[in-house]
Amino acid sequence: MSRKVVSGPDAPGRDPNAPLLRVVDIKTHFKTERGTVRAVDGVSFQLDRGRTIGIVGESGSGKSVLSRSVMGLLPGRNVIREGHVVYEGIDIVGFDSHQMRNIWGSEMSMVFQDPMTSLNPVKKIGRQITESLHEHLQMDKQEANDTALALLSSVGIPEPAARLEEYPHQLSGGMRQRVVIAIALACGPKILFADEPTTALDVTVQAQILNLLQQQQHERHMAMILVTHDLGVVAGRSHEIAVMYAGKIVEHAPTNSLFANVRMPYTEALLNSIPRLEYMSHTRLDIIGGRPPDLIRPPRGCSFAPRCRYAQPRCIEEEPPLMEGDQPGHTYRCWYPVGSPENLEAYQRNIVAGRTATGAPVEAPVTIDAGGRF
Ligand SMILES: Nc1ncnc2c1ncn2[C@@H]1O[C@H](COP(=O)(O)OP(=O)(O)OP(=O)(O)O)[C@@H](O)[C@H]1O
Ligand code: SF4
Ligand SMILES: [Mg+2]
Repeated sequence: MSRKVVSGPDAPGRDPNAPLLRVVDIKTHFKTERGTVRAVDGVSFQLDRGRTIGIVGESGSGKSVLSRSVMGLLPGRNVIREGHVVYEGIDIVGFDSHQMRNIWGSEMSMVFQDPMTSLNPVKKIGRQITESLHEHLQMDKQEANDTALALLSSVGIPEPAARLEEYPHQLSGGMRQRVVIAIALACGPKILFADEPTTALDVTVQAQILNLLQQQQHERHMAMILVTHDLGVVAGRSHEIAVMYAGKIVEHAPTNSLFANVRMPYTEALLNSIPRLEYMSHTRLDIIGGRPPDLIRPPRGCSFAPRCRYAQPRCIEEEPPLMEGDQPGHTYRCWYPVGSPENLEAYQRNIVAGRTATGAPVEAPVTIDAGGRF
């Protein structure tokens, strides 16, 4: 099989010994009639080969814009993108769409939330897979067909030969997402972005798709960026987790360290909103009250302050920088981190006052029985 080198280790300037991906202070702002939306506002992280990072946050926190910004998949107009995306030693932020085409598919690819919008409804499944094999890997027809067949069976699609001849609407939602994953994997990317890959699917198939992604990531020694609003999804499926709030990473840690030692009140609030089987009948789930801030006019201090039960006057005045935790690789943005004596004092002060420094009401914790009795 002859393959033209369009990217990969032989591309000029590429350093295969450099970290796979370094994102440095990336900003992505949108100019709108109302003002500038600071969707991603100074995010940095590094991703090595074979590793999975979970990016977690509520709706609107900037997870998808961050993924698209790293991949250079943003709408061209009214976007301001600053910072560095260093892929195997080369900063690709200045790449034009022609250069990016050599990266998409064969170096980085993406699985989107809704398989129906990623697939072309009027093209047969087989053709949708073989197209990128022709384009990126210059495979001939037979080779591309054989590869498509192998890909469909590797993502667990029964009777793959028959499926190649079918159209997307003939498959179930779960099967469609498997096809999207097969297309994303077709050219052997080194980084797979999976942006809420299961939220459009039936609950019963969500775990199957997540397990498939994990298995493929492991077998191919790929790096994966798994984007979700659910900390439970990334708990057993990532090496590290970055929690996003209002366009920034507010806590970042190796997965075990994060769960053992949460520092950021926002992460604590996200954790408290996950149902746990063992506590099911006696614990009230905390739904995070309030709304995320307006990204056109974010608050001066900590952006979580209006919703934080520990908020103090300093939180309103000064934005907390990214600080180092006790564990290696653990960083967070908070003046009164969870688990510290300062945090306990702040909470007690707020409980006594009945409200936080922003005026939000704070009540002492209560436990409610499943039957509604206190
Ligand atoms: N093209 C655009 N123009 C203006 N604002 C935008 C644009 N795209 C995204 N935004 C805004 O940027 C912010 C971040 O959006 P993003 O889609 O990244 O959120 P998200 O974390 O992926 O949320 P979800 O969980 O709902 O997918 C939101 O406030 C959104 O409204
Ligand atoms: S304690 Fe203060 S700094 Fe920390 S998250 Fe709450 S408001 Fe932000
Ligand atoms: Mg999104």
